[in-house]
Amino acid sequence: MVDLKGQYQKIKDVVDASISQVLETTAYINGPQVHEFQKNLETYLNVKHVIPCANGTDALQIAMMGLDLKPGDEVITADFTFAATVEVIALLQLTPVLVDVDPNTFNIDVEAIKKAITPKTKAIVPVHLFGQCANMEAIMDIAKAHNLYVIEDNAQAIGATYTYSDGKKAKVGTIGHVASTSFFPSKNLGCYGDGGAIFTNDDALAHKLRGIVNHGMYERYHHDVVGVNSRLDSIQAAVLNSKLKHLDSYNAARINAANAYDQAFKGHEHIVTPFREGSVDNHVFHQYTLKVKDVNRDALVKHLNENGIPCGVYYPIPLHLQKAYKDSRYKEEDFTVTNQLVKEVISLPMHTELNMEQIEYITSTVINFINKNS
Ligand SMILES: Cc1ncc(COP(=O)(O)O)c(C=O)c1O
Repeated sequence: MVDLKGQYQKIKDVVDASISQVLETTAYINGPQVHEFQKNLETYLNVKHVIPCANGTDALQIAMMGLDLKPGDEVITADFTFAATVEVIALLQLTPVLVDVDPNTFNIDVEAIKKAITPKTKAIVPVHLFGQCANMEAIMDIAKAHNLYVIEDNAQAIGATYTYSDGKKAKVGTIGHVASTSFFPSKNLGCYGDGGAIFTNDDALAHKLRGIVNHGMYERYHHDVVGVNSRLDSIQAAVLNSKLKHLDSYNAARINAANAYDQAFKGHEHIVTPFREGSVDNHVFHQYTLKVKDVNRDALVKHLNENGIPCGVYYPIPLHLQKAYKDSRYKEEDFTVTNQLVKEVISLPMHTELNMEQIEYITSTVINFINKNS
C-alpha cells in the first residue's frame, strides 16, 4: 500500500544526518528538533499554535481534555472512520453520537449532524477522511448556531487546503477550534515511529494543552490539571523536520497518482472513482478509495492480493455496529450510507513513489477481474 523505503532513499542523507545529530547530542526528549518542528509546522499551516505529542489518538484525546467537556456530554462524529476517533470520546466518558456520512465524499453528513443535536451536544468531530476536507463551512455554521466546539480529526489530510465559498483559503486543521493529526509512518506526513500534534489558534487553549501533554504541569512539579505523558521524541521530530519541506510535493505526487487512476477507470459501469469536492488541493489522497458496484468486492481483494497488489478495505464494519460502540439509540435506517459503503469500498495502493507502470498494472488487473466476473 505504501513504499516508505523508496521515499526514504531519496532523502536518506538529510534524514540520516538529522537523526545522527540527535544521537550525538543525546537530547532524546524535548530536544531542539521538537521546537524547530513545532515552529516550522506553525509556519506551514499558518496556525498560531502546534502542540506536538506522541500519536494521533493522544492528540485527539488531549484536544478534548482541553475543552473541559464533562462526562455525559455528547460528541457527534462520523460512523465511517477509524476507531480512534470514537475511542477517545468514549474513554473520556463523553457520549459518542455516531452519524451517517455523505455517499460521495464519505465525510460526515451535515444534515445528519443537525438531526443529532440535543441539549447535551457539546462538540462535533469531523474527520477529513482519506485526505479530503469535510464540509467545514457548513459545520462551523452549525457549531456557531448551537454553541458547539469543532475538533477536526486531521490524521488523514495534512497539507490539504480548504477553499471557502468567498474564495478565502485555509489549511485543513486550522478551521475548527482545535485539530489533531497523526504522523504514523504511512500518513501523508509520516515519521519513523509514532507521532502526532494538536493545532489551535486559541492562545488560552494552547497554553492548557501544553500542560496537559506534560502531566498537567505548567511549572515543574506543580500539577494544576490532570494530564498525560504524550511527547513527540526528538528523533521523530528530526525526521519530520526533514520531511515537512517535501509535504507539498508528496501531496502533489498523490494527486497525480489519483488522476492517473481516475483516467484508467473513467466511465467503467461498475467502478465509482473518488468524488472530489472543491478545489484540487482539497483532497490530498491519503487513500485512493473506489466504490465497486455489483462486484464481489472480497473476491476482487483476493484476486489483487494473489497478483501481488496490496489493497485495503477501509473500513469493513461501521462503528455503530462495533461491540464497543453499540448503543440502543442507534437505528439502522440512520446509517444507510455507511452500511452500504462498508460493502463497496476498496482502497488501492497510494503513496508518493507510485509510477505509471505500477498504476497501469493495478488498474488493468482490477478492470480485467471486474469485466470477467460482473
Ligand atoms: C482518522 C484517524 N484518526 C485518528 C488516528 C490515530 O492516529 P495514530 O495512529 O497516530 O494514533 C488515525 C490513524 O490511523 C486516523 O486515521
